[in-house]
Amino acid sequence: MAKLVINENKTLGTVAPEIYGHFSEHLGRCIYEGLYVGEDSEIPNVNGMRKDVVDALRKINVPVLRWPGGCFADEYHWKDGIGEKSKRKKMVNTHWGGVTEDNSFGTHEFMELCRQIGCKTYVNGNLGSGTVQEMSEWVEYMTFDGESPMSNLRKENGSEKSWKVYYFGVGNENWGCGGNMTPEFYANEYRRYQTYVRQYDPEKPITKVACGANVDDYNWTEQVMKTCFENTPEHLHGHMDMISLHYYDLPEGWEPKVSATEFDEDTYYKTLNQAYRMDELVSRHTAIMDKYDPGKVVGLSVDEWGTWFAVEPGTNPGFLYQQNTIRDALVAGITLNIFNKHCDRVKMACIAQMVNVLQSVILTEGEKMLRTPTYHVFHMFRDHQGAELLQSALSGVGTIGEGKCEVPELTESVTVKEGTITVTVNNLSLTDKKSLDIILTEDKDYKVIESTMVGGSDPHDYNTFDDPDKVVEKKFDDCSKVAGNKFLLNIPAASVVKIRLQA
Ligand code: AHR
Repeated sequence: MAKLVINENKTLGTVAPEIYGHFSEHLGRCIYEGLYVGEDSEIPNVNGMRKDVVDALRKINVPVLRWPGGCFADEYHWKDGIGEKSKRKKMVNTHWGGVTEDNSFGTHEFMELCRQIGCKTYVNGNLGSGTVQEMSEWVEYMTFDGESPMSNLRKENGSEKSWKVYYFGVGNENWGCGGNMTPEFYANEYRRYQTYVRQYDPEKPITKVACGANVDDYNWTEQVMKTCFENTPEHLHGHMDMISLHYYDLPEGWEPKVSATEFDEDTYYKTLNQAYRMDELVSRHTAIMDKYDPGKVVGLSVDEWGTWFAVEPGTNPGFLYQQNTIRDALVAGITLNIFNKHCDRVKMACIAQMVNVLQSVILTEGEKMLRTPTYHVFHMFRDHQGAELLQSALSGVGTIGEGKCEVPELTESVTVKEGTITVTVNNLSLTDKKSLDIILTEDKDYKVIESTMVGGSDPHDYNTFDDPDKVVEKKFDDCSKVAGNKFLLNIPAASVVKIRLQA
């Protein structure tokens, strides 16, 4: 019998709300159509931002939003995206479909979007094709309030007050689309560029994020940590606050990309196996970081993660528009439980991407909008944001499948906030219901105050614009109290379950 023992008296660290973050790039229909339709659109909007989408995002407590890329970031020249819209320079989005980018969504619009969503700002600078001066001026433009050329320019463009840039990325994927650099070269470039990412206001410090590894490139983490953290004089410590990690779930590798909706048992398990691999990746990158930074000063920011499937038939291959099934919900549940468990090092994570691209939480078509199964998992897991991780351990849980298909039957994480314990469990089995005993160590009389789930039907199920609520977060009933501190759950196959307990 599977058993989950929770020690309510042992907290292991705070789950940074930012690990429930999102990523939005100038790619396909993420920014344009998905988030921003312009003030003149017939689609209801507030200052150009889609009202339906913003309203839905507010309900999942988006903590942080990363922008403008991705690969786009290292080609983006921020001055093209400010000032009178009709005069803004047009460019070719070479990475994503070769379409014309009219720059109608720029810095001011991003800040307005974050204001409406109520989230922190994460701006990714251009190190690959931009100059130190350009990066430095962008930071001045956004964050300096006094008299200066960039501050004055911002004021001329209608924003008297500066904004708060919570996070600033110094380049993106500089081992690839951001300049094809070696880790040694990037690390030195990072030291130079970040010097001019000035902290203008001590009340509004900018957390600087260095470009980290692609998947399992442990040497990248090693070299960047060594050059940017260890080998810096004491007074420069703090010039790298975070390092990123990018990892996508591609069950068959880059080619062939598998369908987002049609999959057999093998591919289902391969996808979940790839999701579960996040645990190994985070553990191993963390071990390298621990060598240089045992005090865990530098956070790991997994600022691109999610499934990457074949695009929906008939859509532009450069737009990365894919559907989202209960399989995606499980990928989200598995990944978010892993981040919770690693909250001592993982301080931020951004799912790729927010709307209409890759593993989105929202899809749009004209004026229609739907929430994906992944959205509902983010809604369930929002209770973990800012909570304390509790010690918890599963026993009596086996694995399913072998090799590239092998996955644990169940995964979990448990947190506590203001006296309420939140337990999230995934049953990865495609076919079998799983019984789980939950045992709390304190001999108290606990009651279930909420229990919900996503899944438990055909794992191929997904929401369409004609049937947008086929997969939703619904009540989970199969939970009974066995004793004051003991509960029995019968968790349906292929489902993500949450229960919340109070003594
Ligand atoms: O999210 C899509 C792309 O994936 C991003 O632009 C890039 O950073 C990554 O390779």
